[in-house]
Amino acid sequence: MPTLPPSIRWEHGELYLLDQTRLPLETVIERQDTLEQVWDSIKRLKVRGAPAIGIAGAYGLVVGLKGKMDLPTADFLAELERQAAYLDSARPTAVNLRWALTRLVRLAQTMADAAAPQILSALEREAIQIHDEDRRLCRAIGSHGLPLIQPGMGVLTHCNAGALATSELGTALAPLYLAHDRGLEFRVYADETRPLLQGARLTSWELQQSGLDVTLICDNMAAHLMSQGLIDLVIVGTDRVAANGDVANKIGTLSVAIAAHYFGIPFYVACPYSTIDFDTPDGKAIVIEERGNAEVTEFGDRRTAPAGIAVRNPAFDVTPHTLVTGLITDQGILRPPYVETLRQHHAPVPL
Ligand code: MRU
Repeated sequence: MPTLPPSIRWEHGELYLLDQTRLPLETVIERQDTLEQVWDSIKRLKVRGAPAIGIAGAYGLVVGLKGKMDLPTADFLAELERQAAYLDSARPTAVNLRWALTRLVRLAQTMADAAAPQILSALEREAIQIHDEDRRLCRAIGSHGLPLIQPGMGVLTHCNAGALATSELGTALAPLYLAHDRGLEFRVYADETRPLLQGARLTSWELQQSGLDVTLICDNMAAHLMSQGLIDLVIVGTDRVAANGDVANKIGTLSVAIAAHYFGIPFYVACPYSTIDFDTPDGKAIVIEERGNAEVTEFGDRRTAPAGIAVRNPAFDVTPHTLVTGLITDQGILRPPYVETLRQHHAPVPL
């Protein structure tokens, strides 16, 4: 099991985030005192990973509304909607943020007869429930994905869909933690994941800390390792699954999926129901976050590109459902045609 500080902690009505931008060199935990601070922590990836930003967003709303308890109910509810829209603007691709915020807004709207302090208490309980529920979802994903892991396998993952990206076991990494716990021997290959190095800084660190056999590679080495027969299985996480099974995930995932398809290697995507968005018909409708140029023109704090160079920095890409062998969900492994299996196994949750 992961032996790490939790990425998110709610204690005595205060929100604490592990600053993931400082890992693995420093373990810094920051208390979040204002709505703006939480927005900034999500935007800068101090907290990151689809489920984790959903949980942080939910708690962030509670943090932001603490100072608004004197408002009459109607004004409090209007303020809640304003704050939820503001937090949602921090990152557009992972649907979990909007999903969690909408869940809190909907709950508050059913309490129009209550006073603001009562609504705030209910929101706090709901945020804690989202946090607890995520633990259970990760465990369920882990159990369903466990049979995919066989002794001696090489398993490739991209970005970080582990404990740091969730409340506990992760999504893509959950089957690996459970397999390791049962004494299976296998090797994980972690793509470094340029430009922000979530694979190098976070995945390789959290797996190493937890005693798994993990080998770090640069992103452009994955196809070569596949050609050498070192990769038997790919498991990645996702930021949004469209209704037809197209999946958005960290930039570079599409290249991994194409290479896996070429070499006949199964490509699985792990996701809790909170990442499935029935309002998004297909991958073309997913908004892809574009981030600042410096993430590409610099490596660490050092400039590596010429001044004035044109840059593109999409943070995510979309893998078409035709390249996805299976979706490892909290309900089981779904197979194509996803447009049907998703609807059968996961009731659409209106946002
Ligand atoms: O930009 P990030 O680090 O938030 O991107 C994270 C990913 O792409 C993860 O794979 C995804 O959110 C799933 S986390 C369980």
